[in-house]
Order: sequence, then C-alpha cells, then structure tokens
Amino acid sequence: MDNSTSATAVGKPDRPLPVTPGAQGLAGTSFKHEHLSAILADGLNNGFFEVHAENYMGAGGPPHRALAAIRADYPLSIHGVCMSIGGPGALDVNHLARFRDLVARYEPMLVSEHLAWSSHGRTFFNDLLPLPYTQDTLDKVCEHINQVQEAIKRSILLENPSTYVAFASSTMSETDFIRAVSQRTGCGLLMDVNNVFVSANNHGFSASAYLAEFPLEQVGEIHLAGHSEQHDDENELLLIDSHDRVISDSVWMLYRNVVSRIGPRPTLIEWDSNLPDWPVLRAQALTARRIMAEHGISLAGELSHEA
Ligand SMILES: [Fe+2]
Repeated sequence: MDNSTSATAVGKPDRPLPVTPGAQGLAGTSFKHEHLSAILADGLNNGFFEVHAENYMGAGGPPHRALAAIRADYPLSIHGVCMSIGGPGALDVNHLARFRDLVARYEPMLVSEHLAWSSHGRTFFNDLLPLPYTQDTLDKVCEHINQVQEAIKRSILLENPSTYVAFASSTMSETDFIRAVSQRTGCGLLMDVNNVFVSANNHGFSASAYLAEFPLEQVGEIHLAGHSEQHDDENELLLIDSHDRVISDSVWMLYRNVVSRIGPRPTLIEWDSNLPDWPVLRAQALTARRIMAEHGISLAGELSHEA
C-alpha cells in the first residue's frame, strides 16, 4: 500500500486546501493495540489510523513497535490532546519538543490538535476544556498555533470542540473564531461532526446552522464518534462525547451533509473506550467510505470484498 504521503507546508493565507493529495477518500479508525493482530490480518483498504500523540512520547517499547507495524502499511494521523492550545499560559516547550520528535519519527499524513485547554501552571486536567471566544483568546490561540507549526515545520488541523458550558464573556461565535484562527495562522481544520451534534444539543442551537457558518473549505479531516446520553440537574438531555459506541443516525446524516458540500475528506472513526471487536470498528469506517462514494470516490475493488 502506498503510504508515501507528504506534509503540507506551514500554512499561508493563500494556501491550497489542507488535504494531502490522494488522501481525500480515506476512511480510518483510532488505533488501539488490542486490534493490532486483527488489523494486520484483515485491515482497511484505503484506510488510515489515528493515535493520540501523548501515548507515544516515550522512546521505545511495545507502543512504538505496534505503531511502527501499522505505519509500515498505512498512513498515520497524529492527534494531540494535551498541548493546551487554548490556555492563557505559555506552551510547555518540553511537551512541544516531544510532539515535534514524534511527528518527525512517523511522518504522519495528518497532524491535529484541539481548540481547548487542559493545563494551567503545573495542574493538568483529563478533560478538554472550553475557552471564551474573545480577541485576547484569539491572539493567544494564534500565537500557540504558530509556535506549534514552526516547531514541526508544517500545518496542523485544529478541531472544533464539544462543549457543555459557554462563556458569557465571548464576543464572537465559535465559527467566526475558528475562521479567524485559520485565516491568521494558515492552519487547516478538523471538523468533528459528533462534536457539533453534541454541542448543538447541549446549548440548544442548530447543528445544520453551525455547519452552514463553519469554514468547511479549510477542512482537512473529519471525525465521527459515538456519544452517550445523560440528564443534567434539571432533567434536560445532556449529550457526552464519549467515543464508546457506534455513530448515531443523526451524526451520519450531518456527515452526509458535510460531504455533499465539500466532497470526500479523510474521515476517522474515533473509539476510545468500551472497545468493540475490530470488525465493528472496521464496519463503521466502511460506512464512511460508502457515503464518500456517493460523492466522488470510487469503491472499485472494494465492494466485492466487503459484500
Ligand atoms: Fe474528535
């Protein structure tokens, strides 16, 4: 399998679309070591795999042996979850150096991070926390993204968050904020469709309206994931971005909407807990491939195999 993908140059305002040539129609999944042997036995045609950067920041050992085995056959996506790009403080330069080294080691097809913060001073949280959308936070996020992109010598994709609270101090919409970040830093965007659905439910806005306002032309990857349902203290439905089940029909509908508007994009099924057997996860990726086939990619040679 050809995995000779190349990095997009650090973004400029008049940059081309942030999609690696030939990668548009790929569908992949989170890579979990429990699935390694099953993947090597029956993997994904036109697939790719995504890992959390922080799980591979040691020098060697079983994690790197497993990832190297996957990298031999597939393009990779390295997805950072702890850079705290949305935080008010300086980036952790040691963490950034480890991130840079990991990107250099595996030469992934895609590199991404979150519009969120997860550390403050020497306190580290397990959650990706939201930030107010103001001129001050916009300046800080852009400064951080420029720092990351300069360190790794390529553009990153910035992911829209799933949120459960909003800040009264915000002076711009999330979509305007994200558009401004992309324009100022040249970063591409990672559209997490499930995050849109979760936030829309939790805040009471229209997911379709959000997508209509989102700068979809800068999307270089799409995330899909399952969410769980809870109820808040007032017994209102609260959706949690749990990554622990199949993708809901509503999220598949939104995904169709996005692909119909911008065409195929590398699409990743995120699944991080309550892991299913590999064929379940694989089937979710193949559903994304079929939807992309409705909008321009060819499944020649795959349909007979998957039937
Ligand atoms: Fe995501």
